[in-house]
Amino acid sequence: MGKDVIIACDFSSAADVFKFLDKFEGKKPFVKIGMELFYAEGPEIVKEIKKRGHKIFLDLKLHDIPNTVKKSMAVLSRLDVDMTNLHAAGTKNMMKAAIEGLTREDGSRPILIAVTQLTSTDQESMTNDLLINEPIDKVVMHYAKNAEEAGLDGVVCSPLEAEKVHNLCGKDFVTVTPGVRFADGDIGDQKRVMTPAQAKEIGSDYIVVGRPITAAEDPVAAYERCIAEFVD
Ligand code: C5P
Repeated sequence: MGKDVIIACDFSSAADVFKFLDKFEGKKPFVKIGMELFYAEGPEIVKEIKKRGHKIFLDLKLHDIPNTVKKSMAVLSRLDVDMTNLHAAGTKNMMKAAIEGLTREDGSRPILIAVTQLTSTDQESMTNDLLINEPIDKVVMHYAKNAEEAGLDGVVCSPLEAEKVHNLCGKDFVTVTPGVRFADGDIGDQKRVMTPAQAKEIGSDYIVVGRPITAAEDPVAAYERCIAEFVD
């Protein structure tokens, strides 16, 4: 899998995202569209950004009964996205159904990755709210293995987990890692962070970078710095 920097376009309107992307002129960064933008603007925003020549990671984190996920994934696949995701907590059957739905007639399909445990879930909330009585690291790795066994391409994880995931599921199993910050930048609300260079070192396949690029004075320069540290 090719290493790339994915910009988290966490904007709430098409106008804001286009104003941002216009700054990149000839460049076509890989972009992540999340729930906020998708629910605000609908599938049209995916088509528009795709038409401009960007690769798209559609981050909608599906989690429902297998039949519903299968049918929904078929719709997302027709939007021609390059990567999408679901919650591994939906079970292996749900993940297998998702792949069936996502696979196009010609056999091609977007990259499908799983969320294991959200980074907002800590040991205490997992034990008390979800009644999962195992250590969170073990749960994350177990869900990653389930995703691999269901035929998924990889997981979203902290850069700190990327190496462990590769050791468990193989080096071709994709790790997509948020929580990336420049060494001299603001951490914001992220707790466990790594620089793009460290994420490269540890073997992340894709880094997802939001505010260090979107809130930068010069977003294009910040993006290029990520590419220089992570890809080149
Ligand atoms: O602005 P920032 O670089 O923190 O953005 C990171 C992006 O990655 C956001 O879209 C956030 O929702 C997403 N994300 C995350 N941690 C996860 C999963 C997704 O930060 N565990």
